Amino acid sequence: MDSIPANRQYWNQISRGYQHEHDPQIGAAPRLWGMYSIPDAHLHALGDVKGKRVLELGCGAGQWSRSLAAEGATVVGLDLSEAQLAAAARAMGAARYPLVQGAAELLPFAAGSFDLVFCDHGGLSWAPPHLAVPQAARVLRRGGRLVFNTASPWFEVCYDEDARRVTTTLHHDYFGLNTIAEDQGAASYQLTYGDWIKTLRGAGLIIDDLIEPRPDPGTPNGYNETDPPDWARHWPAEMLWITHKP
Ligand SMILES: C[S@@+](CC[C@H](N)C(=O)[O-])C[C@H]1O[C@@H](n2cnc3c(N)ncnc32)[C@H](O)[C@@H]1O
Repeated sequence: MDSIPANRQYWNQISRGYQHEHDPQIGAAPRLWGMYSIPDAHLHALGDVKGKRVLELGCGAGQWSRSLAAEGATVVGLDLSEAQLAAAARAMGAARYPLVQGAAELLPFAAGSFDLVFCDHGGLSWAPPHLAVPQAARVLRRGGRLVFNTASPWFEVCYDEDARRVTTTLHHDYFGLNTIAEDQGAASYQLTYGDWIKTLRGAGLIIDDLIEPRPDPGTPNGYNETDPPDWARHWPAEMLWITHKP
């Protein structure tokens, strides 16, 4: 739970600038995954959500949530930051959905409340997975799915902090992956592939797929510099886990 206050403060402070810079990319069209805006229509990660109870864990300004609400899902957008939730409230379209302030580490919902829990660089990136994954599993009904996209271990290990870019050199221990220090005392999280599998299975989830999104040639990374520019054509920058609760 230690990173909750710092992460909340961090996202409150950067929210306005972050949305100014990234909302045009994230919200350019419905259902765009990650740093390279890869359409879900190409990855087939989320499926049909019409009539489903959906929780977005760390919804930010709600670009995903408002799209799924417009498709007929009953969506709840949860986020730690009141500034991010205010951005989501301002951007809400005709298909309205509730916004809840809370932490992925301790979800304020009853067990079995949702058919789908998902996020795109949200709560599963910014809360310790050993806390957030069991919480997500708890609020899913049996047969419900947890689907989430995060940066990949490859990406974190090759990230050069001084140059602030992803490179072709190993800068960090793979086996040391866990808490990643972000600006202003905030923290994000990353695990080894083996520890992700242990954490997901330990929460009682079945792993159905691990999609490694590969951008089309020439697609820019909207968030991070990479060297070479087509780094993610050679190595997976992100990983999209598809799981369900049996
Ligand atoms: C990179 S944004 C993801 C939202 C959206 N998909 C996007 O790409 O902008 C990360 C979001 O996670 C939220 N967040 C950070 N820590 C969290 C936590 N412990 N629980 C829930 N949300 C959290 C932040 O406030 C922020 O809105």
